[in-house]
Amino acid sequence: MIVSETHVVILAAGKGTRMKSAFPKVLHRVAGAPMIEYLLAAARPLAPATITLVVGHGADLLRDRLAGRGNLRFVVQEPQLGTGHALRQTEALFAGVGGTLVMLQGDVPLLTSATLERLVMTHRCSQAAATVVTAVFDDPFGYGRIIREGGELVRIVEERDATNAERGICEVNAGIYAFDLAMLFPSLARIAAANAQGEYYLPDLVGIYRQEGRAVGSVRVDDPDEIRGINSRKELAAVSRIVRQQRNAALMAAGVTLEDPDTTYVGPEVEVGRDTILHPGVVLEGHTRIGSNCEIHAHVRIVDSTLEDGVTVFNFCVLNGARVAADARIGPFAHLRPDADVREAAHVGNFVELKKTVLGARSKANHLAYLGDATIGEGVNVGAGTITCNYDGLRKHPTTIEDGAFVGSDTTLVAPVTLGKGAYVAAGSCIVNDVPPGALGIARGVQVNKEGWVARKQGKK
Ligand code: UD1
Ligand code: CA
Repeated sequence: MIVSETHVVILAAGKGTRMKSAFPKVLHRVAGAPMIEYLLAAARPLAPATITLVVGHGADLLRDRLAGRGNLRFVVQEPQLGTGHALRQTEALFAGVGGTLVMLQGDVPLLTSATLERLVMTHRCSQAAATVVTAVFDDPFGYGRIIREGGELVRIVEERDATNAERGICEVNAGIYAFDLAMLFPSLARIAAANAQGEYYLPDLVGIYRQEGRAVGSVRVDDPDEIRGINSRKELAAVSRIVRQQRNAALMAAGVTLEDPDTTYVGPEVEVGRDTILHPGVVLEGHTRIGSNCEIHAHVRIVDSTLEDGVTVFNFCVLNGARVAADARIGPFAHLRPDADVREAAHVGNFVELKKTVLGARSKANHLAYLGDATIGEGVNVGAGTITCNYDGLRKHPTTIEDGAFVGSDTTLVAPVTLGKGAYVAAGSCIVNDVPPGALGIARGVQVNKEGWVARKQGKK
């Protein structure tokens, strides 16, 4: 039996009734990442020998989402009869196993690794049977209260079961504990469901241990935000806001300007280079990487995209799965869809949509265009209203526009079609055949002016 080993158990079987959701609570996103990911990330530095999730509501979905995640074990709690009952479900897994069990609640995502390390350290040094994480809240409503006698933690009482005097206590139970595995399960079996909810409350173990004459310690966190639980959508929003503020503070500390941090939403996997400016209402999500010296104007959403240095994105653009090279300019009102590949110093203007399209270096598509499945060379001018007709109802076809070509306004390019190097297309053309290099392609009705037509029509001489 290895006594110094750490094992982690995360409780995530509860219905999350107060969320009013069809999905398990721990899959709800906190500032862009599922709640459960925060806990797994916080537990990792403990280098636990095992991590076990107690699942129940939405168990299959949870298992699915976390599939392929290394050493995760799942235990099903069915029915869900409370946190004490939940932990009991892991008893068989720990038969004959010693060491420290760190128990987390899946709905307390802001917990830091530093606190967990302090918890394990304090627990081991004190040789207590259990160590409880606590915090002091100005408004402790809803949490279990820490009852002390002569400074010693003697029991925990839930909000619903507390007397008025006990409700006045501001020190609360975080729902995070370290247990000595050697003595845990026999005492856990003694928890009764004699309370307002008729559930087996894990915090009752504290009182049981005290009766058994065992030591119970506590670790208090300085920042109560760290142990904020999420039980409702309102709390989900409040905790998300805290995460965003932390992330935004880190970005600013790293040299990024946020004009209005309150309205800037940056996902957990996003990177932003120094001296880049993010204006109000910017949303950066997924695997997005933004270089330095970029300027992202107000109300732009960028998902899974890469922007090199010095890129400007004007207001109200949406970029998804796009690449934008250095010094390019996008927008306002541009839509870059997956595999839009805008090369160095190219311009994409208002109401221009790119999909699976390379826009070569210094090329411009400044107004009202749809460019799909196109390969556009360098120094090309794509006129206002240019449309690649890339879809024939069955298949997609490519358009190639070589270096230095000039596409006149209101041109439709019926793919597959190629405009050669330096070719011109006359405005208003419907191009169905290739235009050779250096040639002018013109495909439109010939204009006829009928002199004096208006007067004749009106019967005047
Ligand atoms: C719990 C604590 C409370 C503490 C608070 C901190 C109990 C009885 N109360 O209250 O002292 O202040 O957390 O946030 O423990 N779960 C299961 N199976 C169950 C019931 C719950 O796995 O049968 C899981 C839930 O999915 C959740 C966690 O345990 O992740 C906590 O359950 P919840 O009902 O939210 O407890 P609280 O009322 O918040
Ligand atoms: Ca809770």
